[in-house]
Amino acid sequence: MSTSSPMDFRCTRHGHVDSTSERAFAALADGSARHGDVHTALAQSAGRGRLGRRWVSAPGEGLYLSVVLLPAAPLLASALTIAAGLAVQETARACGARGVQLKWPNDVLIAGAKLAGILVETRGLDAARPHYVVGIGVNVGQESFPAELEAERPVTSLRRAGAPSSVQEVEAALLARLAPRLDQVLGEGGPGCELQGLERDYVAACGFARRRVRVRVQAGEVEGRFVSLQLEGGLVLATEQGEERFPLEWVRALDLV
Ligand code: BTN
Repeated sequence: MSTSSPMDFRCTRHGHVDSTSERAFAALADGSARHGDVHTALAQSAGRGRLGRRWVSAPGEGLYLSVVLLPAAPLLASALTIAAGLAVQETARACGARGVQLKWPNDVLIAGAKLAGILVETRGLDAARPHYVVGIGVNVGQESFPAELEAERPVTSLRRAGAPSSVQEVEAALLARLAPRLDQVLGEGGPGCELQGLERDYVAACGFARRRVRVRVQAGEVEGRFVSLQLEGGLVLATEQGEERFPLEWVRALDLV
C-alpha cells in the first residue's frame, strides 16, 4: 500500500527481538508491512547502528523503534535522517534535556555524548514500490553503559543528562513529533516546498547560518563559511577558492569550527 499523509502510526510491541528494523524488514518480506507500521521492543539482541556498529539495547533502558514507510515515490534517505533527528531533538527537549544537539549525519548528542542515533535503511529499492525503514534508538534510563562502549565514544542517556523519563513517555513524545516531521519529507505541499522547511529547521537547529564550518569528505577536510544546505542541491560553503558545493552523500562529517 502506498502513502497517505498525514502519518498514522500502528505499533507492534515486541519483547526481546533481534532488531526492530529486522522485524520491519521481515514484515516487508512477507508482504504484511503497511505504511506507518512501528515496531518497538523491550530489548534487542542484534540492535545495529551505522557502518556495521552495534546498538547496545538492554531491556527497558532505551527506546528501540523502527518505522516502515511505503511512499508513492522514492525519497531522499538524508531527508528522513534529518527529519527523525529533529524529532528526537524536540523529544529530548520536551523531556527536559538541555543542550541537545544534532551531529551530521545521524547523531543526537548532549554535551558531546551520544544520546540517540538514527539508521535509515532500504533493501533492493524498487523505484516503482519504494520502501524505507527508519530505525531510532534513544538512550533513556541507562545509568551506565558497557565499558567497551564508553571506551569507544562518550555516551549518555536522558537519565544521565538530568531528564529522567520512562521509555513509554519518550515513545509517545517521539511519535507525536515524528509524524509531522515525516510528513515534511512525504509532503504533499508542492514539489520541494516541505523539504525547504525541513532544510531551514535543520540549519537553524545546528546553528550553521553564516558560521564557519568544517566538512569532511572522502578527499579530506574543507573549512569555509556556511552558505546553504539543500537536500537535493547539497552543501555550499564560501571558501578561499570561492563557493564550493558538496553533494550530501559525500558529506561524512559537518561541524561548527
Ligand atoms: C546509529 O547511531 O548508528 C544508529 C543507531 C540506530 C539504532 C536503532 S534502535 C532501533 C532500530 N533497530 C536497530 O537495530 N537499529 C535501530
